[in-house]
Amino acid sequence: MNRPLRKVVFPVAGLGTRFLPATKVVAKEMLPILDKPLIQYAVDEAVDAGADTLIFVTNRYKHAIADYFDTAYELETKLERSGKKELLALVQNVIPKHVRCVFVTQAEALGLGHAVLCAKPVIGDEPFGVVLPDDLIWNKGVGALRQMAEFAASENAGAIAVEEVPRSETNKYGIVDATPTSDRAALIKHVVEKPKPEVAPSNLAIVGRYVLPGRIFELLESTKPGAGGEIQLTDAIAALLAEQKVYAYRFDGTRFDCGSKLGLVKATLHFALQDPTLAAATREFITAV
Ligand code: UTP
Repeated sequence: MNRPLRKVVFPVAGLGTRFLPATKVVAKEMLPILDKPLIQYAVDEAVDAGADTLIFVTNRYKHAIADYFDTAYELETKLERSGKKELLALVQNVIPKHVRCVFVTQAEALGLGHAVLCAKPVIGDEPFGVVLPDDLIWNKGVGALRQMAEFAASENAGAIAVEEVPRSETNKYGIVDATPTSDRAALIKHVVEKPKPEVAPSNLAIVGRYVLPGRIFELLESTKPGAGGEIQLTDAIAALLAEQKVYAYRFDGTRFDCGSKLGLVKATLHFALQDPTLAAATREFITAV
């Protein structure tokens, strides 16, 4: 695991039912926070962490994600001809030149673990990152995935992002039972998928960032469907714990659960308040309503 992180998987083949009817045609990951889709924030974080190969696990309805990262010839030609250089740069710079995108199809939404397994042929046996774009993590300094990648490389171990949640919400998350080893890190003993509050081993919830060894693919291949009939990444991580060290990592940053409507609203307001051209008017609006 003490190798730099080069490959990052974005599992984006979920159905996005919480945003229906919009997600009938708009992939959840293309919903914007101001002028950038969620997937752009996720990709920026991965590139900042050192990734040069981005693997998108999509389904047949999500062409928009591939289109977004592709060249937009007509638009670019028009912007070039009309001398709109700044807009042209915005359109052309969604991804740096040295980074390549690979698209893999998950034919059926069989769960997050299954989606990650679909990336196996591209990753092989090296450490890789997983970023769930609907968990948008904002940080003024170093991005969450880079913090985790550096930590994982220094410990020669896996790392999973965690955050404290109210006890009443443990049944919405994978929950870890872990022994603290520093301010930010704790060595994981167990993970449980969506435990009821009364049996949850802690209130440390797994959120959408992982740094994992290639070995996880073999463990996923032998993982039986778990909670909700889906192949759960958490179950394969539970098996990995018997073989290797995996840490729960409390990243520095603020997470917005943009898979929920309230999270999307909060993220939009937060980013508007960070934007000098929008901050004052947004604040005025919030205080007036
Ligand atoms: P969610 O649990 O948020 O499910 O998936 P969802 O389908 O995206 O959204 P809702 O709950 O129906 O509104 C967590 C992540 O795992 C991916 C999703 O795209 C999301 O990034 N995922 C989930 C897959 O790629 N494939 C799956 O089979 C399931």
